Amino acid sequence: MVSARCQGQGADRRTGQAGIGTGGHRIEAGLTNSRTAQVWARTDLAAGEKAMGTDAASKQQRDAFLDGLMAKMTLAEKLGQINLVTSNVPVGDDILADIRAGKVGGVLGGLDKISFGVNGPDGLRPAQEAAVNQSRLGIPLLLAFDVIHGHQSVFPIPLALSCTWDMERVRATARFAAREASASGLNWVFSPMVDIGRDPRWGRIAEGAGEDPFLGCDIAQAMVKGLQGDDLSAPDSVMACVKHFVGYGAPEAGRDYNNADMSPTRLHDVYLPPFKAAVEAGAASAMMSFSAVNGMPSHADEELLGAILGDVLKVSDFDGIPELIAHGLGDEAGRIDESDPLQTLSERSLRAGVQMDMMGKGFITRLEKALAEGRVSQAQIDGACRAVLEAKYKLGLFADPFARFDAERAKRDVLAPEYAVAARETAAESCVLLKNDGVLPLSKKLARIAVIGPLADDQKNITGPWAFQGDPAHAVSVLDGIRAAVGAGVKVRHARGANITENRRMVELLNFAGPKVDIDPRPPAEMMAQAVALAQDSDVVVAVLGEAAEMSGEAASRLDIGIPDNQRDLLKALVATGKPVVLVLMHGRPLTLPWENDHVPAILATWFGGHQAGHAIADLLFGDKVPSGKLTTSWPHHVGQVPIPYDRATTGRPGNPKEDPGKYTTRCYLDGSSEPLFPFGFGLSYTSFAYGAIVADKTELQGDEVLTVTVPVTNAGRVSGQEIVQLYLTDPVASRVRPAKQLRGYVKLPLQPGETKTARFTLTTADLEFHDGQLNRIWEPGRFVIGVGPNSRDLQSLQIHWSR
Ligand code: NOJ
Repeated sequence: MVSARCQGQGADRRTGQAGIGTGGHRIEAGLTNSRTAQVWARTDLAAGEKAMGTDAASKQQRDAFLDGLMAKMTLAEKLGQINLVTSNVPVGDDILADIRAGKVGGVLGGLDKISFGVNGPDGLRPAQEAAVNQSRLGIPLLLAFDVIHGHQSVFPIPLALSCTWDMERVRATARFAAREASASGLNWVFSPMVDIGRDPRWGRIAEGAGEDPFLGCDIAQAMVKGLQGDDLSAPDSVMACVKHFVGYGAPEAGRDYNNADMSPTRLHDVYLPPFKAAVEAGAASAMMSFSAVNGMPSHADEELLGAILGDVLKVSDFDGIPELIAHGLGDEAGRIDESDPLQTLSERSLRAGVQMDMMGKGFITRLEKALAEGRVSQAQIDGACRAVLEAKYKLGLFADPFARFDAERAKRDVLAPEYAVAARETAAESCVLLKNDGVLPLSKKLARIAVIGPLADDQKNITGPWAFQGDPAHAVSVLDGIRAAVGAGVKVRHARGANITENRRMVELLNFAGPKVDIDPRPPAEMMAQAVALAQDSDVVVAVLGEAAEMSGEAASRLDIGIPDNQRDLLKALVATGKPVVLVLMHGRPLTLPWENDHVPAILATWFGGHQAGHAIADLLFGDKVPSGKLTTSWPHHVGQVPIPYDRATTGRPGNPKEDPGKYTTRCYLDGSSEPLFPFGFGLSYTSFAYGAIVADKTELQGDEVLTVTVPVTNAGRVSGQEIVQLYLTDPVASRVRPAKQLRGYVKLPLQPGETKTARFTLTTADLEFHDGQLNRIWEPGRFVIGVGPNSRDLQSLQIHWSR
């Protein structure tokens, strides 16, 4: 599989063999005394406009149209535009009345009790008709929904998708989702989530691209391009909304919505780059984060909002403005209107640069007073309103508000068979083989296969979190996937063996948005005994264990990130039978698997693979496909190790990784290892890859010269496979402490048995850059170590010297 190059500025700095390119972000220096100007990453907004194909003439036309429209609007209508609401589906009478009265700028799909539901065009069209045909100015609505990994057709969760390291695949799956969502009348999706996630206790790590900003930038760009297409105004494009700005992925203790405190350099080196990359790829909107970073919630962070997000439409998160009250925030001087705190905070959010209020209701109800009393300006209200109108214009809504309600297209673009084909391939490519003592692949000629576990015969959890529109009836379970793969000649039998969890309180929370987890009425011992008996009467055991869908995603933090104890007890009993056991994991986060890794002969991480996951997993189990996914997060032995990203900074007492850590070293825990169990970038195959010697075309470089690094890789096994070759950079001597290594390139090579290809990487000084203490983007001449290999741990390296 060949991945496409991302088109961000500076994207062609590193290229790979076979047309595989890695995108990137270009950064500029710039320092004045204000905090805003210190921000390195002043986004290149021209790049964003360019990515969206906006030329000067069309911009002029748009401006003229918007000037004319705004001249006709009353203050109340302007405030209506910056009000985003949600309701039951179909849109209720109260909301329709508000739409007719010009009090609504956009509708979020719908909130039916707790579970979201957009019942397709029939649910949304009445809202758009009310806006266009029955409001005074006929301004169409933004119609939004969380389209996170597919819509009606469900693809693997984003964290899984990232493990393909295949940008063309990422783009293509986002495009399918855009086609399908837009065929339901939607024009705005709250995706991609580009939060870097380094704490697996945090459930929303499932929604992002993992722990690395370099890969995160590429994925952010590929997602935006897929969702928005080449032309945002095309009926099958939707507006992307990059979220959650910023640092939401770094909540203290992994608890959702919790605040983060981090150095400015970390914020700028790790957490901000994917936002900037997305905006440069043309993302037309961004969503704020619920949390505060370094004491400042983004809903009130005037300096960061302006510097990074520029002109993109900035929307609050759901209720994010009223929640500033609980944050204990006042106005810029720390004062609050005690009788009406929402008054103060709606004003402050608008002044900070938030332009659309999702469900907070403060913009629509409080800003008229704020304007009259001089605490917000007409220009601030106009600016916000114009941003909403501009987004609508870019979406082509003024030209044809009903273009996305085309029943003929919906027949083609909803649940299209080609999505199912792509979903199956993608699910297979996102699985990561963590261990294989030769059990896999399984033969299709086995007589008896036991498929055991609470997730084996499951259609409700396999689609993962944030799959509200995916009909579980369309999901292929692992049991059905295996049955389809081996045919009627093989006895495939199932036993549940255990519940997903015995923790009743957790089950209640997991079922908050609808029943997905049940408790079998049989006593646990009886279930386990049945499963053990089945295992004993089988040739191989496939144990499908792990998390329920809602154990990850929003509001799904966990203290213990192992598979639940009762499932591990089942696994122990299955292993004790002496039968070969393959552990198929379902999960939305890195898991701790120390016992499993020591005792189970084969472990396949399958995440939540979407509708086609059962087929995809069977494809891998029986060798019709060869595993190629690699981890985009480091997997700890023990939850006490987290966060454990591969690029942690070096210390004064690092200890030698090849020796026992001894006592007085950073590597020493008295009671266990400090190394990850499975490192970032890790993943096995059914074949083996032999790496030749790494070669640099020069070892002395100066200024703008380009370094080319190559390594030949041979498929030394008997089946064809794909290898993701990775390049890491170390800056061993710098003016401040640097990460031990940083990903700076990757290439996915398809290789036939015996075939050799050369992975080729190019680096420039942009790859050496980092932020100094004043947040200038700099690089420092000197010695650098280049490491190349199959994962972030097993690298061969060489040294180069780069002078100015
Ligand atoms: C809250 C979540 O944080 C955000 O990601 C989502 O887009 C909104 N709810 C709307 O569903």
